[in-house]
Amino acid sequence: MRNFDENTITQAVLERVAEARSPRIRQISEAVVRHLHNLVREIRPSQEEWGFAIDFLTRTGKMCDDKRQEFILLSDTLGVSMLVDAINHGGGEGVTESTVLGPFYVEGPPEPPHGADIAGGVDGEPLLVTGTVATPDGEPLAGAIVDVWHSDDHGFYDVQKGAGEGTAMRARFRSDAGGRFHFWTIKPAAYPIPDDGPVGDMLKAQGRHPWRPAHVHFMIEAPGYAKLVTHVFVAGDPYLDSDAVFGVKDQLIREFVRHPAGQAPDGRQMDRPYEHLHYDFGLNRL
Ligand code: BEZ
Ligand code: FE
Repeated sequence: MRNFDENTITQAVLERVAEARSPRIRQISEAVVRHLHNLVREIRPSQEEWGFAIDFLTRTGKMCDDKRQEFILLSDTLGVSMLVDAINHGGGEGVTESTVLGPFYVEGPPEPPHGADIAGGVDGEPLLVTGTVATPDGEPLAGAIVDVWHSDDHGFYDVQKGAGEGTAMRARFRSDAGGRFHFWTIKPAAYPIPDDGPVGDMLKAQGRHPWRPAHVHFMIEAPGYAKLVTHVFVAGDPYLDSDAVFGVKDQLIREFVRHPAGQAPDGRQMDRPYEHLHYDFGLNRL
């Protein structure tokens, strides 16, 4: 096989992958070749443009380490993370919808008791978070692992701050016999995704902003149920309709209700105003 041109090269590559080690590898390889060749035929890049594309991917890879995952950001900002999520998580009656994990989850979070303040000394507007975990028919799920993490009121996660700042605004709770959990923290703010790398360059070139609407992350697991990775977004946030990573769903938006100083629903005496977020989560059966 020789002398390939614009019209014959695709078939030649497809034939070359026909002996792939499994039907799935063959299917994926064929799809990659077909779509990539069609993309190149559609955009007809100059040699310099193709060189730029290779350099962009090289810079994306070089930006990755154990703290920064530029390829996930690329997948997020091109809507691919939410497409994979949509394909794999159907939702349904009584089941909370999922959204992107994001890069700021840290394994092995602290496990304080219910009602603890997880702000870790970071200043901000006090926020009481209460919630429940249930089956799709609304039966309370006891002992579910509830991981939470969020940004501060300037939009920064603890891991983005300087060394020595310590763990803050993240924790793991276990739902009680009634499927309930609650904790205190500070209200998160909207924030730009890390945009000092190739993905930020791409957003600028595409005329896009890097902002995500304010949210609290939740990851909830219970034996026999599908792991739920989601956020709850702050109602009224100006970026709800232009989230840089396409993660917003109506079902995940809640009012953070403002209360004056006084006794909070968990009995805590508050000497300043605070906000209250409540969310009832439903897990899908496996
Ligand atoms: C986040 O919500 O933490 C996040 C998600 C996707 C990209 C960047 C940040
Ligand atoms: Fe986030």
